[in-house]
Amino acid sequence: MNKKAEVSERLICWYRENARDLPWRENPSPYRVWISEIMLQQTRIETVRGYFDRFMEAFPDIAALAAAEEDRVLKLWQGLGYYSRARNLHRAAQKVMDEYGGKMPSSYRELRKLPGIGPYTAGAIASIACGECVPAVDGNVLRVMARLLAEMGDVTSEPVKKRLTEAVAELLPAGGAGDFNQALMELGECICIPGGSPGCEACPLFEICEARKQGLQDQLPVRAVKKERPTEELTVLILRFENTFAIRKRPAKGLLASLYEYPHLPGHWTREQLAAWLPWQPDPEQIRPLPDSHHIFTHKEWKMKAYEIRPPYRWEDGWSYVSASELQDRYSVPAAFRTYTEWITRKV
Ligand code: ADE
Repeated sequence: MNKKAEVSERLICWYRENARDLPWRENPSPYRVWISEIMLQQTRIETVRGYFDRFMEAFPDIAALAAAEEDRVLKLWQGLGYYSRARNLHRAAQKVMDEYGGKMPSSYRELRKLPGIGPYTAGAIASIACGECVPAVDGNVLRVMARLLAEMGDVTSEPVKKRLTEAVAELLPAGGAGDFNQALMELGECICIPGGSPGCEACPLFEICEARKQGLQDQLPVRAVKKERPTEELTVLILRFENTFAIRKRPAKGLLASLYEYPHLPGHWTREQLAAWLPWQPDPEQIRPLPDSHHIFTHKEWKMKAYEIRPPYRWEDGWSYVSASELQDRYSVPAAFRTYTEWITRKV
């Protein structure tokens, strides 16, 4: 057997025995595979299970998703982060209804025309749900391939990604691309894991992995050192008036678009500074410090201080005051503010 056939044969045998039972693997329709793949980007499989089931119950098909209110889609996404993905799903579903007669396209080329569907997602849907012979290369697959081939270049660079994607394309067995792609991902998640010490002893590619043969498995893949993210300091104000809390919808474009937020000020403020700045000039003792928190976005970090403040009236225009239960049931407040949402919904 040649080496390529051996890689796919071993991987697929291993996958048939070890594939996890995942809800989207029963009946892998293009819609279900699409939703699962978007949810799985940067979120652990175990977390996604519950989200996937709730989403399917709320929106069993594309028509239901397309017809939904955006706020409802965002609410079901709450906790997964990266809300632009949920907004793109919603927009793409509407496009499928308008331009494809409600039927999800089934080729890689057509899938790429939908909002939020990049090369990886299009490859995953086309191969897993439609049987097209195309690669689906995510971070797990890059790591497995870099080790298998002892690729010494930076896997975050475009030329190396392209080279490894072409190598996957060459290995794809005719008629089995979906299983092969999933087997590579599964191997990367369960055995060929990131960091040092992958589980080589249990790996079906043990004898043919170049990194393992050369003792390089702990050093690969090579990744360029990331630039440091800028940090922003904020002071969050939990304004409480008659057991309701001030929130506001963020603009439809930009960071955390269309989600709800609590009032906040740039920089870290002390109680005394706030007391002097607030229009009714409270005693600093009436400003109650809440726990600090920290949130990492892709391109920046927020370091938050926070206070609970009880204004003597609904201060100020432009903010809605909602109860803790309304906040929990109806409004999507991003995970960046989770500490304060939990504080409001548990401790009031
Ligand atoms: N990670 C992301 N998508 C996956 C899939 N379809 N199978 C296994 N792991 C995955």
